[in-house]
Amino acid sequence: MVKPSIEQQMDDLIHEINQHDHRYYVLDDPSIPDAEYDRLSESLRNLETKYPERLRPDSPSHRVGAPPLNAFVKVSHELPMLSLDNAFSDDDMAAFEKRLQERLKNERPIDFVAEPKLDGIAVSLVYEQGLFVQGATRGDGQNGENITQNLKTLGSIPLKLATHNSPPPARFEVRGEVYMPLMAFEKMNLQAIKNATKPFANPRNAASGSLRQLDSAITAKRPLVFSAYSIGLCDFDAVPNTHYEALQWVRSLGFKINTEIQTIQGAAACLEYYRNLLAKRADLDYEMDGVVFKVNDFSLQKQLGEIAKAPRWAIAYKFPAQEEITVVNAVEFQVGRTGAITPVARLHPVTVGGVTVSNATLHNMDEIERLDLRVGDHVIVRRAGDVIPKVVSVIREKRVKGARRIKMPSYCPVCASEIHRDDNETIARCSGGLVCQAQRKQAIKHFASRKAMDIEGLGDKLVDQLVESALVNNLADLYQLDVDQVAALERMGPKSAQNLVLAIEDSKKQPLERFLFALGIREVGEATAKALVTHFGSLDAMTKAGETELVTVKDVGPVVARHIRHFFDEKNNLAILEQLLSFGIQAKARESLTQESQKLPLFNRTYVITGTLTQWNRDEAKSRLEALGAKVSGSVSTKTTALIAGEKAGSKLVKAQSLNIPILNEADLTTLLNDS
Ligand code: IVH
Repeated sequence: MVKPSIEQQMDDLIHEINQHDHRYYVLDDPSIPDAEYDRLSESLRNLETKYPERLRPDSPSHRVGAPPLNAFVKVSHELPMLSLDNAFSDDDMAAFEKRLQERLKNERPIDFVAEPKLDGIAVSLVYEQGLFVQGATRGDGQNGENITQNLKTLGSIPLKLATHNSPPPARFEVRGEVYMPLMAFEKMNLQAIKNATKPFANPRNAASGSLRQLDSAITAKRPLVFSAYSIGLCDFDAVPNTHYEALQWVRSLGFKINTEIQTIQGAAACLEYYRNLLAKRADLDYEMDGVVFKVNDFSLQKQLGEIAKAPRWAIAYKFPAQEEITVVNAVEFQVGRTGAITPVARLHPVTVGGVTVSNATLHNMDEIERLDLRVGDHVIVRRAGDVIPKVVSVIREKRVKGARRIKMPSYCPVCASEIHRDDNETIARCSGGLVCQAQRKQAIKHFASRKAMDIEGLGDKLVDQLVESALVNNLADLYQLDVDQVAALERMGPKSAQNLVLAIEDSKKQPLERFLFALGIREVGEATAKALVTHFGSLDAMTKAGETELVTVKDVGPVVARHIRHFFDEKNNLAILEQLLSFGIQAKARESLTQESQKLPLFNRTYVITGTLTQWNRDEAKSRLEALGAKVSGSVSTKTTALIAGEKAGSKLVKAQSLNIPILNEADLTTLLNDS
């Protein structure tokens, strides 16, 4: 076989990549794995670097973006980009059809094309001899901005018309909407919040902001889609006679056409289409602000003409808005199942998307800060589909004097326990895990679970029943249940009630590490619970230990140590704990557990590591020592067995020397670890 010429190879690659782009971006039906696609793109780029004179204008390499511009250049639309008249009610729609019938002197229902009114940015794309040469925003309808470089980065915009071997129109203009699909929008915003950059208020702003970048490499990274909805200027003999057929033709040229577009007859059918699409609104992956109805027949469109910048042959029947302005009357704090405190805005009631909204989530204090929200502010609230209403932004110009700043309360609004928020955490939490009404179901379910107290028969549903019937308000109440009370519950018999009470009684024998895990202290899992029990030997010693001692326990870092302290510092928790112990729950470590650790070679020894270690990673050295039964502490005291001093050891070395504590170097450490 003869090797194809360079030119042929490049043509083939361009053809193949463009086909894949079409499958992926237009048809939503990718046909090859990403890695394979990347390989093709790479091959093409290599050839283009080697033969720059052969770089074709429709090469997909243009999609990564071009050198940044200083400003956008003005473009005047040869054929103005019109706007649409609006209908706001069924009556408006009936009146619209009546007007058309009168003008056309025709009583019959009119043939319409019904299309979603996509909520994005209108653009015009011009093709010459089949090649994409100019893309522009609508602007004021007469003049827009040249954003060709940006539009070239959209995979759903063909760089060359797919005319399938027949000659392309000399000039062809297609118009449509650029939008950002909802899922991609959410993902992008989450990332923005993570990167501490400002998220976009809604998908439309995101699309608009992304298109108006002077650096098209930025646009290239934004998940934008172009969907065509009409032909503009077109030098071509074989243009179809109806709008619907024209759209099918545009589709065949390689463009995305919205899948909800249909032909229908008469205003009554328009209303039905409108209601069906409205019902589907929440399920679609793009935002719409209504339906556009267009007279299908081009000759009728021509006959009807236009008035004041809008065609007589089309109308937009608007959906209820998804964003409205209202006032924040108060901000309250809700406590979640796990103790997370969420600020909620109480709003002056407002109808958004057809539903009355009087509350909106504010997520956390960082969000309040980001919005710069105060009580009394005018805000934009948004309710899209089934999503919980949220405050999108504050209208700063409308801020009244005395608008109140919002502060996180110090005590839980449900149980009055202390609220804590760690330095690098977004979420604040109630520390009353054992008493808080908001958390009790979750706390009891965890307490009874298999790896915790393993109370057989006490499943999630039964916990719900016990709490809802007020038989159990906290963990201590579990141990005071009697058989008759339980038997009286729905779906419970005397036998299963008896079994449950026995199982609860039985759980008192569970070892301390299970009990500790069952308490549900944040980030204290099974392994940490066991390490704590091994270290302290009793619950009493543990509740008294300070953070400095806690961090010497295996697996316990400063964050966990603080969670443990918060838990035991909360008086409400201690009260429940005392009650539980009074019922006979184990408060001391099993002999075997302490014995196990007593058998370890470095049991009862405490080391302090200081200075720079060169052969050991400090964490690794720490966990190796701990695995051998030693404690590793952060400070030197008379209890220290030895100081392990690396290079540049400072005050700890001095202190150890003054206390006459043995000093080990790194080689000694290695020997200790290897020989123990
Ligand atoms: S047709 C002459 N069809 O709505 C008709 N417009 O005010 C001109 N829009 O800015 C537009 N989806 O961006 C048409 N299926 C659709 C549309 C649509 C959204 C936007 C368009 C324009 C505005 C019209």
